[in-house]
Amino acid sequence: MGERERNMLDVSLVGEIHHKQFGGDPKFFLAPGRVNLIGEHTDYAGGFVMPAAIDFGTLASVSARRDGRIEIWSENFAEGVTFGPGELPRTRQKHWSDYPLGVVWALREAGIEVPPFSMALQGDVPLGAGLSSSASIEVATALALLSLTNAAMPRAELAKLCQRVENQYVGASSGIMDQFIACNGAEDHALLLDCRSLEFRLAPIPSHLSLVIANTMVKHSIAGGEYGIRRGEVEQGTAILRSHRPEIALLRDATPADLEKWGHEMPDNVLRRCRHVITENLRTVAAADALEAGNLRRLGDLMAAAHVSYRDDFEASCEEADAMVEAAQRLPGLIGARLTGGGFGGCTVNLVELERARGFAERLHDDYKAATGIDADIYQCHASSAAREVEIV
Ligand code: GLA
Repeated sequence: MGERERNMLDVSLVGEIHHKQFGGDPKFFLAPGRVNLIGEHTDYAGGFVMPAAIDFGTLASVSARRDGRIEIWSENFAEGVTFGPGELPRTRQKHWSDYPLGVVWALREAGIEVPPFSMALQGDVPLGAGLSSSASIEVATALALLSLTNAAMPRAELAKLCQRVENQYVGASSGIMDQFIACNGAEDHALLLDCRSLEFRLAPIPSHLSLVIANTMVKHSIAGGEYGIRRGEVEQGTAILRSHRPEIALLRDATPADLEKWGHEMPDNVLRRCRHVITENLRTVAAADALEAGNLRRLGDLMAAAHVSYRDDFEASCEEADAMVEAAQRLPGLIGARLTGGGFGGCTVNLVELERARGFAERLHDDYKAATGIDADIYQCHASSAAREVEIV
């Protein structure tokens, strides 16, 4: 059996932890992780992505303090950090606390005075699995801290603030997708986002479909080198196209015809990275249309083509993820499967007929084990709501 026991987030447990660690009368905020259905490494090129928020997330409890200190407890790491006035680190420490402390930093940079506080964090997004555990920590922390101030922040601004935490404090050059979906996802919906204008539309995921997420158990890290190398290659190719057509501000503005015309000026790897991004943008918009039209066969074909492009042109897959996708493609009930997230490991996303999802998950686990020797965690998820305040019921 590959289905992981769900470590359900429990508001009353976080309440007890908060009380034990700090006392006080906290408020609670929940932010989801995400799975991306299609549109990979397109966000920082100003293009299109179509993620869904999932029912794995991070809970943050928060209460104000009177002694001037900031104290944060992580239930996952069973460890706390504590700082007196003026003692906050100015840069990352390569520690879990970088994410909540980065949010304090970003709020202050934005001119929002964060009062002294106590916070407890608990999450069930698998770490390093490409399901945006870090964005869920950032967004839960930001909502919690904003509740201690009088500042209101529109959701798009909140997402951008949390992206700044990644880019400028943690040092990961990621795009806006993860933070945006955590701030704006909706239950039973995928979200097509234009990552330049930040306009979006929600596309319902039919109730007879299930999101099965399969963890290859190969750790992925966007702070690691490969993500940044790919981003650099995309920027290199964009600069070449821009030298011919100055209106190409971001690769999102380029067409297959542009690549046809000037791609020969690029090194082969750069040409292929650009081809992935340009075609992925087209596939992503087409996938949203297919989902809305109920054309599931087309959606599945687009997901399959996206995986091939991610594997061959973008070279961001790995043997295990390819084995997981190939195993899925042999199973009954599959609509579409591909590697999701930043690449180089992590999870595949599988859109599966609901009534076959359980059997699908079991066989996927077994077939992947036979192919790779690895015991994968398989999660049956639901598209869930955006970050919000929650209460003990
Ligand atoms: C990571 C980043 C995102 C996005 C994806 C790839 O999840 O955080 O901004 O670039 O990789 O699509």
